[in-house]
Amino acid sequence: MHINQNKDNNKQTVKRVLVKMVKICCLGAGYVGGPTMAVIALKCPDVEVVVVDITSARINAWNSEQLPIYEPGLDDVVKESRGRNLFFSTDIEKHIGEADIVFVSVNTPTKTQGLGAGKAADLTYWESAARMIADVAKSDKIVVEKSTVPVKTAEAIEKILIHNSKGINFQILSNPEFLAEGTAIQDLFNPDRVLIGGRDTPEGKKAVQTLKEVYAHWVPEDRILTTNLWSAELSKLAANAFLAQRISSVNAISALCEATGANVSEVAYAVGKDARIGPKFLNASIGFGGSCFQKDILNLVYICECNGLPEVAQYWKSVIQINDYQKSRFVNRIVSSMFNTVANKKIAMLGFAFKKDTGDTRETPAIDVCNGLLGDKANICIYDPQVTQDQIERDLAMNKFDWDHPTHLQPTSPMAVKKQVTVSSDAYSATKDAHGVCIVTEWDEFKTLDFTRIYEGMQKPAFVFDGRNVVNPEKLRQIGFIVYSIGKPLDLWMKDMPAVA
Ligand code: UDX
Ligand code: ADP
Repeated sequence: MHINQNKDNNKQTVKRVLVKMVKICCLGAGYVGGPTMAVIALKCPDVEVVVVDITSARINAWNSEQLPIYEPGLDDVVKESRGRNLFFSTDIEKHIGEADIVFVSVNTPTKTQGLGAGKAADLTYWESAARMIADVAKSDKIVVEKSTVPVKTAEAIEKILIHNSKGINFQILSNPEFLAEGTAIQDLFNPDRVLIGGRDTPEGKKAVQTLKEVYAHWVPEDRILTTNLWSAELSKLAANAFLAQRISSVNAISALCEATGANVSEVAYAVGKDARIGPKFLNASIGFGGSCFQKDILNLVYICECNGLPEVAQYWKSVIQINDYQKSRFVNRIVSSMFNTVANKKIAMLGFAFKKDTGDTRETPAIDVCNGLLGDKANICIYDPQVTQDQIERDLAMNKFDWDHPTHLQPTSPMAVKKQVTVSSDAYSATKDAHGVCIVTEWDEFKTLDFTRIYEGMQKPAFVFDGRNVVNPEKLRQIGFIVYSIGKPLDLWMKDMPAVA
C-alpha cells in the first residue's frame, strides 16, 4: 500500500491539472452516484461533473425541487452546485464522450437464474455500460468502478474495454464507496478513508494520481489509500461483511439474553467498552437490511466457493443465516404472544425503511416481517415518514432480489398486493384499533410518540413489539402495554408463550 504523504507536492500537482478542466461523468444517478457526485462538484468547483442515467424520471427528479432520494443535507449540496459545475442528464453518449474520468455506479443485482443463482452478482448492467463506454469514447479515459462488484470485475471490464478500444487508452480503477445512507453527506465530507485501486504500471499509477487529486481537494492525504485493483475490490466486500457480522453477533446474543434474562443493551455496552472491540454497530435489531450487506456477503460466499474455500464460505453464510433467523424470531414472537393467531387482527407497523433517515427500502427487514405476518393472515397498517405507499406496494409485490434493477425494468410478481395491507400518513391513525404495534425502523419521532393516546385507541390486550429498542419498555408496561423488546428481559406474558423460530 502506498500512502502519499507529501502534501505540498500534491497541491502543486493539483494546480497543474487545473490548467485543463477535468470532466467527470458518472453513469448511474442512484443512492451512490447522486450524493457522491454532488459532493465532488461542491468540493471541486474547478471540475465539471455530469451525472447520467438511463431512467429519465430519475434525472428529471435530480433536476427538480424534489430530489429522487431523501438524504439529510443533500438538498443544500445539490442546490449549491447544480447548474454551476454539476449537471444531471440523459444524454449518456455525449457526456461519456467528453469525460476524462467515468465513474460507473450502476445496478449489480444478485443473479436469480443460471450459474451462481442466489449468490453471484449479475453484471449485465456493468457489462453494457462498459461496452457503451468503449463504443462512444473518442479520447483516453479513466474508468472508475464505484458500485460494489465481485473481486476481479475490473479485470473483466478492462478486457471488454481493451478489446473494443480502437486505439484509445482506458485505465480502470476501483474506488469503492463507503458512505452509509442517512449519513451520506457527512460520510462524504469526512470519510474515514478513500480507497483507490489501480494497476501497478506507469499508466495505472498516473490514473490513480489523477483520481487522488480530485479527492485531495478536501480529504486529508493520509486518508487516501492506494492499493492494487483486487485489494480495493475485496476491501469493500470485507468491510461490509465485518460490519454485518457485528450485527449478527449482537443479534445472536440478543436471543440468548431473552432466554437467560440478560439485557442486550447492557451486554453490548459492556462489550463495546473494550477498546479493541469499540462501541459502534452493536445495536441489536430485527436484522440488517439495505442494498449492500446481504448482496456483498453472498458475493463473498460465491467467490470463496469458486476458489475452493467451502469452510470460509460457510463462515460468512452464517452471518446471513443469523440475520434471517432474527427476522423470523421477531414474527414468531408477535404471533405466539397473540394466542398463536393474528388472522384478521390489525397490526400497526411503524417504519418501513431499512434504517432511519432514509426512504430506501431495499432489503428492508420490514418486507420479511410483513410477509411473515401476512402468511398468518394479519391485516397490516404501515406508517413510515419517508416511504411512499407506491413503494411499499411495489416492495410487497416483488420477488426476492428483483429490487436491484433500474426502476422501469423491475419485474413485479403477478400477484397484486394483498388487500390486507394499508398505508397510513401518521402513527396515530396507523395504530387506531390495532391489536399490536411493531416498530421496525428506529425513526427518532417514534421515541416521542404519545403512547398513552396510542394505548387508549387500541384493542386490549395491547401489544408493542419493539424491533429497534427505541421505546422504554418499563414506561410502556406502566401504561398497560404488553411489551417485547429485542434482547431485553421478557414480559411475564411472553415467558408463558415461548416462540420457537
Ligand atoms: C452500509 C455500510 O455501512 C457502508 O459503509 C457501505 O458503503 C454501504 O453499506 P448502509 O447499508 O447504508 O451502509 O447502512 P448501515 O448504517 O451500515 O446499516 C445497515 C443495516 O444495519 C441497517 O438495516 C441498520 O438498521 C442495521 N444496523 C446497523 C443494525 O441493525 N445495528 C447496528 O448496530 C447498526
Ligand atoms: P446504488 O445504490 O448503487 O447507487 P441505485 O439502484 O440507486 O444503486 O442506482 C443505480 C442507477 O444506475 C439507476 O438509477 C439505474 O437507472 C442506473 N443505470 C443502470 N444501468 C445504467 C447504464 N447502462 N447507464 C446509465 N445508468 C444506468
